[in-house]
Amino acid sequence: MNILIINGPNLNLLGKREPEIYGSKTFTEYLEDLRKQFCDDHIDYFQSNYEGDIVERLHKTDEIYDGVILNAAAYTHTSVAIADAIAGISVPVVEVHISNIFKRESFRHKSFIAPYCKGSISGFGLDSYRLALLSFKA
Ligand code: DQA
Repeated sequence: MNILIINGPNLNLLGKREPEIYGSKTFTEYLEDLRKQFCDDHIDYFQSNYEGDIVERLHKTDEIYDGVILNAAAYTHTSVAIADAIAGISVPVVEVHISNIFKRESFRHKSFIAPYCKGSISGFGLDSYRLALLSFKA
């Protein structure tokens, strides 16, 4: 399968950002493990701290990817633009979160993107990404 992982704002800081919530592994380290585990699949990766970049990357997925794994990070809770971009493409998108957003502050309980995603996975640490990848194979 051809899969794209998109990480939103501040996820470039994984490993050093609030390790009690997000763990101490960098995403580069995790991605290396994931690619080894799914060596028959092709996994592209894109990270941006900018909403418009994420919108544009989503626009470029049709007819290229079998699935997108999206951690929109803080934009999950604010972005109509990312929600509209997901609604406007035909590639299935799975929403992921490292932390369990429903156990945290109430502003994190609302996801603007969830209604347009195939499903949502939240709270399994970095393993959320592996579970999302498996969901495309089910
Ligand atoms: C997050 C949860 C969001 O609320 C937060 O803004 C993030 C990361 C997660 O992966 O747990 O940046 O998406």
